Amino acid sequence: MSLDPKIQHLRDLKDQAKLGGGPARIDAQPQRGKLTARERLDLLLDKGSFREMDPFVTHRTTDFGLDQQKIMADSVVTGWGTIAGRLVYVFSQDFTVFGGSLGEVHAEKICKLMDLAIKVGAPVVGLNDSGGARIQEGVVSLGGYADIFLRNTLASGVVPQISAIMGPCAGGAVYSPALTDYIFMVKDTAYMFVTGPDVVKSVTHEEVTFEELGGASVHSATSGVCHFVAPGEADCLYMIRKLLSFLPQNNMEDPPFVKTSDDPLRMEAALDTLIPDNPNKPYDIKDAIRLIVDNGEFFEVHEHYAMNIVVGFARLGGHSVGIVANQPAVLAGVLDIDASEKAARFIRFCDCFNVPIVTFEDVPGFLPGLKQEHGGIIRSGAKLLYAYCEATVPKLTVITRKAYGGAYDVMSSKHIRGDLNLAWPTAEIAVMGPDGAVNIIFRKELEKAADPVARKAELVREYREKFANPYVAAARGYIDDVIEPHETRARLINGLEMLENKRDSNPQKKHGNIPL
Ligand code: HXC
Repeated sequence: MSLDPKIQHLRDLKDQAKLGGGPARIDAQPQRGKLTARERLDLLLDKGSFREMDPFVTHRTTDFGLDQQKIMADSVVTGWGTIAGRLVYVFSQDFTVFGGSLGEVHAEKICKLMDLAIKVGAPVVGLNDSGGARIQEGVVSLGGYADIFLRNTLASGVVPQISAIMGPCAGGAVYSPALTDYIFMVKDTAYMFVTGPDVVKSVTHEEVTFEELGGASVHSATSGVCHFVAPGEADCLYMIRKLLSFLPQNNMEDPPFVKTSDDPLRMEAALDTLIPDNPNKPYDIKDAIRLIVDNGEFFEVHEHYAMNIVVGFARLGGHSVGIVANQPAVLAGVLDIDASEKAARFIRFCDCFNVPIVTFEDVPGFLPGLKQEHGGIIRSGAKLLYAYCEATVPKLTVITRKAYGGAYDVMSSKHIRGDLNLAWPTAEIAVMGPDGAVNIIFRKELEKAADPVARKAELVREYREKFANPYVAAARGYIDDVIEPHETRARLINGLEMLENKRDSNPQKKHGNIPL
């Protein structure tokens, strides 16, 4: 039986839409080390789940001969599908059509799906590969970007928004990803900058390559703009699936519970010997995290940026948690500008999306120095403080070793609504470390001492015995309990379950004024 001509026509049109900018440009994608927009969606989404929206849309421009080049779906593929069975909205810019450039209808398509995502309450994943504003469309393209920026902002804190940079992302175009919650970049093929190498050269006379200016390694390690680097496109798409597994669909839901075979009561003897005898010796806090969380799986965010603090997602007894941990193995875990901002943003994300925060604390204080003070460590440290103070999700803290000075207050202390504050017997909670404290309060005595070195050692020992322990804080109830390190996993899971129905709120306001 022959097919109804109207059905045949529809099928032909849909096949045409799938051709994008044509076979030659499609073939050029692998030569650039890239997949096509549709291949990316196939890898990102559950098999066969993608439903395309607006495949018949074409641009309305007549200038520069564009009326002769109408391509179905224009330069972005939009729609929805599922990841591990859960709904997500997606857009994937098609570099084969006008270099993925964003004109009027490209922007309209993205806005349409974002409006739906906000109403329905499901994440938005954007796969970016674009030459930026479509030059032939002029100011209409700029308007289109602004329409998207507005929606990124309105969706912020309502649904998770994730951006993958899989090619060029230049000019004002970078601000849409920058407004989303997480940016992934693919090594070697992705780059982001506000002004490209040519403009940089003419303005500042600096000669830089695309990679040096805005490649994945720069943005993951130096600027901190990007949260995750993937070695290739398939890895990037897999990592996005993984990230979403820790998150709820929207701000009204709790994160999914994932049943685990890892015993919630598992005791971990290795934790009892993790802290070195010498308090100045480093250890890797990630070893502790992996020993404590379900199956040792820690999905680190911002792995290469401000490594003196560690943030990321894990599960405890099947419950999704956001982990914030000082890293004694890098700069002794000190808090500086970058570390404060990194952690503050992560904490605010967790609080938006009902992810409990587990803090591991071993911090000697804030980093001293001209560079930090002049760079605004006061403002940056205040961001971290603000983020912890305003967070109303369950907050659990484990002090493993040092909790000195202002950093003690900042790192989810009892005073700023820490719900369960535990310490290991190795904890040292005081205004400052023994050495610094003795230098200040015994300065005159040490100046007069017959043997200042021996006297100082004695005073340091006395101070350490008196203050460098968790019991002074515990006696005041600032610490809820001192626990043996091996029982940390069990105690945290118990704490999370105890706090499962926690409800807390802040005073009604339009919004707070975090010190940006
Ligand atoms: C229209 C564009 C385009 C653009 C690329 N193309 N960028 N068409 N508007 N912005 C087209 C090219 O004409 C070409 O079409 C195809 O896409 C592929 O481009 P190539 O240059 O051949 O590819 P490649 O060598 O890989 O270089 C990619 C590129 C380069 C680095 C992105 O194309 C480039 O520099 N484009 C301009 C980038 C730019 O300055 N954009 C404006 C930024 S300002 P054919 O038909 O030959 O396949 C901006 C403001 C936003 O975006 C403001 C928001 C507030």
